[in-house]
Formats: sequence, C-alpha cells, structure tokens
Amino acid sequence: MGCLSTLLVLFSLAFASFSSAEISSQVGICYGQLGNNLPIPKNSVDLIKGLKAKRVKIYDTNPQILEALKGTNLQVSVMVPNELINNISTNQTLADQWVKNNVVPFYPHTMIRYLLVGNEILSSPPNTTWFNLVPAIRKIRFSVKKFGLGKIKIGTPLAIDMLESSFPPSNGTFRSDISEKVMKPLLHFLNRTKSFFFIDVYPYFAWAAQPTVINLDYALLDSKNITVSDPGSGLVYTNLLDQMIDAVYFAMKRVGYPDVRLFIAETGWPNAGGMDQIGANIYNAATYNRNVIKKFTAKPPIGTPAKPGVVVPTLLFALYNENQKPGPGTERHFGLLYPNGTNVYGIDLSGKTPESEYKALPRARNNEPYKGKIWCVVGRNANASELGGAMSYACGQGNRTCDEIRPGGKCYNPNSLVSHANYAFSSYWSQFKSSGGTCYFNGLTIPTKKDPSYGSCKFPSVTL
Ligand SMILES: *[C@@H]1O[C@H](CO)[C@@H](O)[C@H](O)[C@H]1NC(C)=O
Ligand SMILES: *[C@@H]1O[C@H](CO)[C@@H](O)[C@H](O)[C@H]1NC(C)=O
Ligand SMILES: *[C@@H]1O[C@H](CO)[C@@H](O)[C@H](O)[C@H]1NC(C)=O
Ligand SMILES: *[C@@H]1O[C@H](CO)[C@@H](O)[C@H](O)[C@H]1NC(C)=O
Ligand SMILES: *[C@@H]1O[C@H](CO)[C@@H](O)[C@H](O)[C@H]1NC(C)=O
Ligand SMILES: *[C@@H]1O[C@H](CO)[C@@H](O)[C@H](O)[C@H]1NC(C)=O
Ligand SMILES: *[C@@H]1O[C@H](CO)[C@@H](O)[C@H](O)[C@H]1NC(C)=O
Ligand SMILES: *[C@@H]1O[C@H](CO)[C@@H](O)[C@H](O)[C@H]1NC(C)=O
Ligand SMILES: *[C@@H]1O[C@H](CO)[C@@H](O)[C@H](O)[C@H]1NC(C)=O
Repeated sequence: MGCLSTLLVLFSLAFASFSSAEISSQVGICYGQLGNNLPIPKNSVDLIKGLKAKRVKIYDTNPQILEALKGTNLQVSVMVPNELINNISTNQTLADQWVKNNVVPFYPHTMIRYLLVGNEILSSPPNTTWFNLVPAIRKIRFSVKKFGLGKIKIGTPLAIDMLESSFPPSNGTFRSDISEKVMKPLLHFLNRTKSFFFIDVYPYFAWAAQPTVINLDYALLDSKNITVSDPGSGLVYTNLLDQMIDAVYFAMKRVGYPDVRLFIAETGWPNAGGMDQIGANIYNAATYNRNVIKKFTAKPPIGTPAKPGVVVPTLLFALYNENQKPGPGTERHFGLLYPNGTNVYGIDLSGKTPESEYKALPRARNNEPYKGKIWCVVGRNANASELGGAMSYACGQGNRTCDEIRPGGKCYNPNSLVSHANYAFSSYWSQFKSSGGTCYFNGLTIPTKKDPSYGSCKFPSVTL
C-alpha cells in the first residue's frame, strides 16, 4: 500500500513535469463573435485551421462552435460569463449544473483544455464580483473534478490594469485594492492547481498613450538596436512586450508566487481605427503579430529576460474584425481576417512561413500623431431611424450641448436630421472626449478632419 502510493506520487510528479515541458509553443487565436456579418462556426473553424492555429479561445460556450471544433486537434478555451460569477461563488449546485450543461456534452471530443471564469473582471469599477471571483473559480474546479474532466485547467484572464506600477518591470506591483483580497488567493489557487495566470497584454495601448516617449519599433518587437535596462533587476529589454510581461512576473514575485506560469490570453494590434487613433494600420498590425509569432514559436523557447527559456503560450486577438464591438474604431479592427474570410494581411500562426513569402504591406500613414481639429459626424451607412435616439442621448449628457440646433440657434438651419446630428455628435465629443466619451454611437458615426461648420454656425471640435 505504502509502496503503491509512493509510486503513484512519483508517477504524478513525473507526469506533471513531462506535461509542462511539453506545453506547446504554437500560437492560437481568439474567436470573438461580436459581429453581425461573420461566417458560420463551421466555416470559421476551417479558417482557423487555415491560419495554422493550435489553440482557440471563445468568450462563452457557444454549442455550435464547440460542435464544429469536435474532432479537430485545436485546444479550446471556453468561458463562464461574468454575470454568473456571483451566483456560482455561493452555489456548488449551480457550478455543477453549468459545467454539466456547457462543457460535459463536448468533452473530450472537443479538446477543451482551459475554462476561464469571467473576462477581465478587475477592469470594471469596484463591485462585489471582484471578491467572489476566486470562490467561483474554486467551485468550478470542484465541478470539473467531479465530472472527471481531468485535462481542463481553470483560470481567469486579467488585463494589465491589474498593476498599479509596471515600470521599470522590477517595480511591477498589483493594485493595492486587489492585491491582498483577490490576487493572493487567485495565485494561491493557480499555483496549487498547476494552472496558468492568464493575462491580456497590449503594447499597442501603452505605446498609443505615449507615442513620443516610447519608440514604435520597440513596441512592434521590431527594433534592432534599442535597449532599456532595468536598474532594479539589471535586466536588459529589447521590446515593450517583454517589459510588460516581466512587470506581471515581478508583481507575482512580490506577493510570493514567482513560479506560476503565464499564459497570454490576448495580444494584438489594430489594423485600422478612427483618425484620432495613431499607429492603427495594416503595416504595424502585420509586423507586431508576425514578430509575436516568431518570438513565441522559437525553438528552443526564448522566454523573457526575467524568465529566459520559458514557454509562454499565446493567443492573438482576434480572428475577425468585429463590427459590433463598442468603443473607438480600433476596437472593431483587431482581426487577422475580414468578415468575408479573406486575410487582412498574410499570417501563419505556426511561424513556418518565411517573411519573404508574404506580399509587400501597404505603407503606414498614421504613425505620427495627427495634429489639428477633428469632428464627429454621421457615417456613410448610418441607419436614419437610429439617428434620433443617438442624438437625444448625445444632447442629454451635457447642459448646453445642443442649444445651437434648437429653433433660433445658429445651426438650426438647414433643419435636417443629418445636419443636426452632425452638430450634436461633434458637440458631445468635444465636451466628453477627455472623460472617455467616444465618437461611436453604435457604429453610426465616424471622426473626420473636414470641418462641417458653415456661415455663422461653428461646430465644436476635438483638438489633437
Ligand atoms: C442569481 O440568483 C438569483 C437568486 O436565485 C436570481 O434571481 C438571479 O437571476 C441569478 N442571476 C443570474 C445572472 O443568473
Ligand atoms: C443554486 O442553484 C440551483 C441550480 O440553479 C438552484 O436550483 C438553487 O435554488 C440555488 N440555490 C440557492 C441558495 O440560490
Ligand atoms: C460587476 O462587475 C461585473 C464584472 O465586470 C459585471 O458583469 C457586473 O455587471 C457588475 N455589477 C454591478 C452591480 O455593477
Ligand atoms: C515604483 O512604483 C511605485 C508605486 O508602486 C511608484 O511610486 C514609483 O515611482 C515607482 N518607481 C519608479 C522608479 O518608477
Ligand atoms: C507553489 O507551488 C509549489 C509547487 O507545488 C510549492 O512548492 C510552493 O510552496 C507553492 N508556493 C506557495 C507560495 O504556496
Ligand atoms: C537604431 O537604428 C536606426 C536605423 O538603423 C537609427 O535610425 C537609430 O538612430 C538607431 N538608434 C539607436 C538608439 O542607436
Ligand atoms: C473582403 O473584404 C475586404 C474588406 O472589406 C475587401 O477588401 C475584399 O475585397 C473582400 N474580398 C472578397 C473576396 O470579397
Ligand atoms: C434601422 O433601424 C431600425 C430600428 O433599429 C430597424 O428596425 C431597421 O431594420 C434598420 N434598418 C436597416 C436598413 O438596417
Ligand atoms: C449642468 O449644470 C449644472 C448646474 O449649473 C451643473 O451642476 C452640472 O455640473 C452641469 N452638468 C454638466 C454635465 O455640465
């Protein structure tokens, strides 16, 4: 008996180290579905195979997608929706029911390997869900074991705003409002269950916030000669992504969990965006994503300065440009593919296509910050019957936002819906851009350099 259990322990230790050594370095893809013009799941799975992806992440447990993934050799990540975290955290029956209904029917023929509980939970304003996250994760893990789904690791993807300090990387520190109450129990769970710490890392956003401070090639993993040394650790960095990953690593180390493996649950670069958005273009997107693939598929693995030689499994965001994602224009342009299934640029997630085989990329035209005024106007294909609602929203946010388009105002004539709407959206944006207001309105509007003002009617603008 004693011998048998010693043997079992030895076997599971050997197995554990074997499986972690074998963790594949091939890059995967995030299959977001926030578009009303996307190919059906079966065709999407064929496109994913065409990209030579090894893994795919979906943001739910869409049964058509899980069915279409049956029998493929794609490793799959599925997600528990944010809204269920609170209830699951106190109700094992509910956790069991969710796993039984959403995961069990597809396992093992669909190679579900990661079950992510919620998405970027700690990026929304403080609420009780934060503190229910780890209890919910534990309940889901209990269910997964109960149903014998042995190959599934449990985790939760967090955005880089989990850090309050990330520069230099050795100064990486979790936010004080989550460090003790969320991060420590989370890392304890991940360490104990040999799972991964899933992180969403976007050098694009860090660079776009400070394009004159951070070198673009450094952000694109494309610099040949720039180095940044970290005085705290003595480590030398050659790209922004390594810096951001190591900041997370140092934050983990600071709270006592230096050995939890990292998994990049999202990274990417937009191929287009609004005209107020610097550096969002096909050239940069292709350069960044190809360099990420080259880095993470290299054999032997490169790792990062703080963890050289360590495999970091990585998923690119995203499969498609998704036309129903809210927010600034870049949000709708992270795809490797257009909704009609054609490539935005050549890309091979296995890393086996040499650079020379790709077609030349269009020149980047928006890498310098645009200086000047811009306005927010109705887009070409806007649905007229939706304009009214969007306009009353815009006019309702500030006190005097729409005074000039009321009868007697300087912009009342011409009394047309589109002209009034152009004024309302520009006025709203000029008032609220600094506090996070966007020129989007559910896809009805676009930013423009062309001043819509006429005569004595002056349209408020945003100055970049
Ligand atoms: C959570 O549980 C409460 C009480 O059972 C229920 O009213 C509510 O609809 C549940 N929430 C969700 C998102 O299922
Ligand atoms: C727990 O979840 C189950 C299944 O959804 C539900 O029937 C039950 O009422 C819930 N229990 C509590 C205390 O909310
Ligand atoms: C709390 O945050 C979660 C996760 O981001 C979100 O789904 C939920 O709506 C929030 N709840 C409240 C009451 O704001
Ligand atoms: C390190 O982080 C702290 C906050 O956690 C910050 O106050 C400090 O300025 C940072 N140090 C450097 C050298 O940036
Ligand atoms: C993390 O897990 C390792 C291996 O199981 C263990 O030796 C170590 O003590 C754990 N760390 C903490 C801080 O619990
Ligand atoms: C790096 O190389 C580029 C192009 O060869 C050059 O323009 C730049 O000045 C160099 N930068 C440094 C820091 O050496
Ligand atoms: C697919 O969509 C893109 C972007 O709209 C377009 O440029 C391209 O011509 C389309 N390709 C086909 C085959 O329809
Ligand atoms: C325009 O929007 C209305 C209301 O949302 C909708 O009923 C209608 O189908 C839309 N028309 C087009 C052409 O999309
Ligand atoms: C609107 O006016 C009121 C009263 O003058 C003021 O307190 C409030 O801050 C204003 N709101 C906005 C959004 O400007």
